[in-house]
Amino acid sequence: MKKHIKNNVYWLGKLDWELDRFHGDDYSIINGSSQNSYLIREEKTVLIDTVWKPHAEEFINNLQSEVDLKSIDFIVVNHGEVDHSGALPALLEKIPGVPLYCTANAVKSLTGQYHHPEWNFNVVKTGDSIEIGNGKKLVFVEMRMLHWPDSMATYLTEDNILFSNDAFGQHFAADELFNDKTDQCLLWHEAMKYYANILNPFSPLVKKKIEEILALNLQIDIIATSHGVIWRQDPLKIVNTYYEWSQDYKEDQITIAYDTMWDGTMQLAHKIGEEISRLAPETKLKLFNISKSDKNEVMTEVFKSKAIVVGSPTVGQSILSSVGGWLEFLKELKFRGKKAAVFGCYGWSGESTKVLREKLTEAGFEVVEPEIKCQWNPDTEDLDKATLIAEAVI
Ligand code: FEO
Repeated sequence: MKKHIKNNVYWLGKLDWELDRFHGDDYSIINGSSQNSYLIREEKTVLIDTVWKPHAEEFINNLQSEVDLKSIDFIVVNHGEVDHSGALPALLEKIPGVPLYCTANAVKSLTGQYHHPEWNFNVVKTGDSIEIGNGKKLVFVEMRMLHWPDSMATYLTEDNILFSNDAFGQHFAADELFNDKTDQCLLWHEAMKYYANILNPFSPLVKKKIEEILALNLQIDIIATSHGVIWRQDPLKIVNTYYEWSQDYKEDQITIAYDTMWDGTMQLAHKIGEEISRLAPETKLKLFNISKSDKNEVMTEVFKSKAIVVGSPTVGQSILSSVGGWLEFLKELKFRGKKAAVFGCYGWSGESTKVLREKLTEAGFEVVEPEIKCQWNPDTEDLDKATLIAEAVI
C-alpha cells in the first residue's frame, strides 16, 4: 500500500516487522525495520530504490497495483546493497530495458551480485540531473563510503526532498512513517545505534560530506531515508546531529564490558563500577557482561562513552573468545578520542591484561596505566586497585 509523502511523491516500501538481524548476524534488529522505496509521478514516472529480495514479489504486486509497470520511465538505484536492490532482478524481468540511474561503482556492485551486464545502466555523478517534467528535476549527489563506495543520494527540486538512502536511517519499523509522529526515544536511540554500528567507521567522510551538502544551500524540506522514518519535521536536525556524531562524539559516560569464567573478573567489574560511581556520581555508568549482552547495543553505549573498561580472565594464554570477538568488532568501528582501562583474573600465566591492552590500543583507544591483574579470586588489595582505574578514566 502506498503512502503519500508530498505532492506526487509516495512511499512504497516494506515495513519489516519480523526482521531480527541484518548484515548476517552483525546487527541486531529489535524494533523491526523497513526498506523504503519511493514512487514519483510527474510527467515522468520514477522509482527510487526497491526492497530486499524476500519481499520482491509483494513489492512488485504493490507497485503494479499503483502504476502500470510499463509506464515507469526509469529507476534510480541510490545504492546496490541487496536490501535496496533485491527486487530489481524480478522487476526488470517484467520491464527489461528500463533505464537505471546509478553511480559507476553501483554498476560494479549490481553486476557482481546479479550478473546482468545487459541492464540499461546510466552512470551519474555529483551534480548530474535529469528532468522529470512539471518543472522538476532530480539531482544526484555521490555519497561515497556512506556507507559503500557506490552510495548516492538524489534530490528532488521544487518539492525539496532529499532521498538519502542509508544515510540518516534507522532500523526501526514505524507504520506512522514520519519523524514527528513516532516515539522520539525509540527513534533517536535507533538512529544513534545505526550511526554507531554502521557509519562510525566513516565519520571523517560523514563530516566532509555534510559540510559539502550544507555548502550547497539546498532547501531541504524532507529527508526520505531508505530505512525507518522520513524526517519532515526539522529535517536538518538529524543532519546537524550526524555532524556532531562524526567528530569523536562522547558524553559523560563510562562503559564497563567484561566476561568472566568463575566470577572473579565479574567481581572486579562491579568494584570498578562502584568506584567510578563513588568518585564521579554525575557520570553515567553502564556495565555489561559481553557474552550475555547484545553487542550492537553495547557498542551504542561505547559510542556515548568517554572511556571504557574492559575485562577478561586469562584462558589459553590469551582472553575469552567472547571478549576477543567483541574487540574485533570494536576495532572495526574506529572509535576515536576515548580512554580505556583493562582488568582480569588468572590462575596460572596471566596474559589477559596484556592482550587486552594491545587490542584496545590497536582499536584506537588511549589505554591508561592502572590495571588490575588478579591471581585467583580478588582479595582486598586487588579490589582496592579499582580506585586507581576509576581515577584514571573519570
Ligand atoms: Fe540499507 Fe547499505 O543498505
